[in-house]
Amino acid sequence: MGLNNALDGKNAIVTGSGNGIGRAIAIRFAAEGAKVTVAEIEEDSGQETVEMITQAGGAAIFSKTDTTDSGSIKAAVGATIAAHGEVDRLVNNAAAFVFGKIEDVTEADWARVFGVNVIGYANCVREVLPSMRRQSGGAIVNIASVSSYIAQPEFIPYNASKGAVAQLTRCLAMDLSVDNIRVNAVCPGSIRTRATDRHIASLGLDPEESYLEFGQDSLMKRMGKPEEIASGALFLASDDASFMTGAHIVIDGGATID
Ligand SMILES: NC(=O)c1ccc[n+]([C@@H]2O[C@H](COP(=O)([O-])OP(=O)(O)OC[C@H]3O[C@@H](n4cnc5c(N)ncnc54)[C@H](O)[C@@H]3O)[C@@H](O)[C@H]2O)c1
Repeated sequence: MGLNNALDGKNAIVTGSGNGIGRAIAIRFAAEGAKVTVAEIEEDSGQETVEMITQAGGAAIFSKTDTTDSGSIKAAVGATIAAHGEVDRLVNNAAAFVFGKIEDVTEADWARVFGVNVIGYANCVREVLPSMRRQSGGAIVNIASVSSYIAQPEFIPYNASKGAVAQLTRCLAMDLSVDNIRVNAVCPGSIRTRATDRHIASLGLDPEESYLEFGQDSLMKRMGKPEEIASGALFLASDDASFMTGAHIVIDGGATID
């Protein structure tokens, strides 16, 4: 069913692919010929992504996964190998959204945001490594953020965790080059998803007004769509990016160029 068949013959695990950007990536990868494992903590949304893919003629399985629990990641890798074969591609996307001022963020909040956004990414890399090594290579795409490199008001825990994702990406690229595994990141700007809906609701703001306002930060005067992030993830996961590792692609409508 691929449009360009950029991922024909590849098996991919996409974490947090029951919603938003992860779902768009899973759908796009499948449309480009990948067999996809939807590794998502929520059963309902994860199964729904699988149905969307299979109804469109693609191949996908669901594996209930909590990226902070190595046992469940091992199970997702095992299910992938059983259904599709060795793991060729990993997209680390599942995230916790913890915002706030330094005095409002508890130690438990810090543990959660780093547990999912940083250690969760590292856990998934560790668990797919044996499979990628068995077939002498692979590619990993980490979903970082513009929050990896800019400061935003009252975003301290989230931005600190996304800054760590940028360094995780570079250091993994260095250490895994010997295994022929490329590691790159996509840095989205403001994208309309459930996470942004929830953030706006938590601030008590009007959703439509807020979306218009967030959109004004970009040179294109609109927010981005999950599918526009999926395009970047697809490129980095495809063999077209064969000479890229340790790099990041910013997809933010030009919001952070000045
Ligand atoms: N939406 C934006 O504006 C934006 C901007 C920059 C970066 N990002 C990044 O994009 C990625 C996706 O964000 P989104 O906006 O699509 O969020 P979302 O909340 O719509 O989707 C995140 C998904 O991850 C799942 N998830 C959460 N914790 C999990 C865990 N421990 N194990 C497995 N699954 C888990 C959730 O159930 C959900 O389905 C995140 O890494 C986020 O930081 C988003």
